Amino acid sequence: MLFADKLNQLADGLADNGYAVVDHFLLPDEVTTILQLDEFQNGLLQFKKAGIGHQQEKQINEGIRGDYIQWVDRTTAKPALQVYLEKLNVLIGFVNQTLYLSLKDYEVHLTQYPPGTFYKRHLDQFKKDDHRKLSAICYLNTNWKQEEGGQLRLYLENETKDVLPEAGRLVCFRSDLLEHEVLPASRPRLSLTGWLLDQHADLRHL
Ligand code: OGA
Ligand code: MN
Repeated sequence: MLFADKLNQLADGLADNGYAVVDHFLLPDEVTTILQLDEFQNGLLQFKKAGIGHQQEKQINEGIRGDYIQWVDRTTAKPALQVYLEKLNVLIGFVNQTLYLSLKDYEVHLTQYPPGTFYKRHLDQFKKDDHRKLSAICYLNTNWKQEEGGQLRLYLENETKDVLPEAGRLVCFRSDLLEHEVLPASRPRLSLTGWLLDQHADLRHL
């Protein structure tokens, strides 16, 4: 499938359902080079515990989320990550055109959920910051099996939909509308977690 077809699939899903799941957004080789980065090879060494709440109000609460993150600084990001950031740029241009959005930028962190950790049901938009318009998560776990858990559970209008965090798969959804949660897994669960913003990211989190 051409990348252009994947973008179309993504825009159609967002327009029709408010979310989309696109496989092979990152190709297997691209996932492999990302997993070889020191950041991921060093376990949790360069990661910090993720908080909840915005900026000064940030708190650690393991009863709500147990993941570890490292924000990506695009000015120093290694080529393996630049490949992903460039795909996000193309995605932004495409959905701006097809869905008449005015997305301007993105913010992305590397994410690791150690076995047993989770993120309870939540929305991605902050009360005091509504600049996150679309959530975009790309998974990095090869051969993920159903019985290993770690599903992303989307709370749709009349049902739930579970998505396995399989390598290369991108999930994208409306940050203001779609409640979701991450179920605990029996193996480490790695991803690139990001948001498409209607403002420039500047140094929002660095
Ligand atoms: C988040 C989140 C979902 C996932 O980081 O806000 O909901 O599948 N992540 O990792
Ligand atoms: Mn979320």
